[in-house]
Amino acid sequence: MQCILVTGGCGFIGANFIRFLLEDTDFSGRIINVDALTYAGNPENLEGLDRRFPDRYRFVHADVCDREKMAEIFTTYPVDTVCHFAAESHVDRSIVAPDAFIRTNIMGTFNLLELARTHQDRLALFHHVSTDEVFGSLDETGHFTEKTPYDPSSPYSASKAASDHLVRAYHRTYKIPVTLSNCSNNYGPYQFPEKLIPLMILNALEGRPLPVYGDGRNVRDWLYVKDHCRAIWMIMQQGRWGETYNIGGRSEMKNIDVVRMICDLLDEMAPPDGKMSRRNLISFVKDRPGHDLRYAMDSSKLETETGWKPAESFESGLRKTIEWYLAHSSWVGRVRDGEYQTWMDRQYPEMRGRKGSA
Ligand code: NAD
Ligand code: TYD
Repeated sequence: MQCILVTGGCGFIGANFIRFLLEDTDFSGRIINVDALTYAGNPENLEGLDRRFPDRYRFVHADVCDREKMAEIFTTYPVDTVCHFAAESHVDRSIVAPDAFIRTNIMGTFNLLELARTHQDRLALFHHVSTDEVFGSLDETGHFTEKTPYDPSSPYSASKAASDHLVRAYHRTYKIPVTLSNCSNNYGPYQFPEKLIPLMILNALEGRPLPVYGDGRNVRDWLYVKDHCRAIWMIMQQGRWGETYNIGGRSEMKNIDVVRMICDLLDEMAPPDGKMSRRNLISFVKDRPGHDLRYAMDSSKLETETGWKPAESFESGLRKTIEWYLAHSSWVGRVRDGEYQTWMDRQYPEMRGRKGSA
């Protein structure tokens, strides 16, 4: 692996992955970061890397659905590895407007696979990043394994499921060297504040309501983003072609408990002006349609084959995440501009303009 094409590298996990590769591993090759800069893509997430690593890091503004432009990238750079993050990633947006999800997540992946096929002679690996949501919902017990049948509930998870099937089909049919990973909910620095954890941190800091869907008893298995990046890199180096690896954080939590923990940590780390706990901002709102009850990952295949284990507990990861958001208020300010406000106002009309009392 000497020249890795990372797609979606200006998003949350992609940016963390590029930073991890350049700053924390002995990888000595080049990274070409291709990103269309949608609302979720932010070049600021990678600020300074082109100066610090001028020969090793390059950003190319392009859409993975643009076959011609992507073909040009494969011709211009000696790409031998693809790590594919680019996607529309937010379930709520997929419920409101699924088109972009079908386009990017399915057609974009298909385009990249076709280019991988064209350049198969120099392709060492195509790694596809996917989600536990392809498996649908669990009851109170059990875990998803790599053998759990796919049963997606949202347009987002259905589009990711389709992309996973395409990647496996290209391995079986054309012998493209692929690995896949399906991971649980990530959190950490640079996450766009429409997802649960950063949204709650920022709303709580501003004294705004904390919208918990339904009764808050839905369970997610939280994975600190750097643990995820390390797992992907281990799979890329040690994973077997054609195989899928589940990645979970061993941190199952009910949403309401996540939100309460955020409130309590914030009260400790950034005490509110008055005496009121930020828990008072919690506000139960209408449930998400098709809301999966519980996700839980069995990562034993990954742990046995590579020795990977998550380094962060949920509390240690959450503390680091809150510290990061507290220290990056100007990043937050720039991210929460026009499009963001419009989306939030549409998403939570009952909360428009409402101020909390913390
Ligand atoms: P994100 O929304 O933060 O970032 C997605 C990035 O892809 C953005 O930079 C965006 O500009 C780019 N992008 C979107 N459409 C594109 C296109 N057509 N061409 C090129 N670039 C495009 O997403 P994320 O949270 O970083 O997720 C990355 C990957 O990980 C996705 O494939 C997602 O399905 C998967 N995943 C995420 C989570 C999670 O908790 N965030 C969990 C499991 C799996
Ligand atoms: P989210 O971060 O959107 O990730 P995903 O839907 O991919 O799991 O949501 C995580 C959980 O939090 C999910 O059960 C929905 C819930 N949730 C809320 O209760 N309120 C919110 O404002 C958001 C964004 C999510």
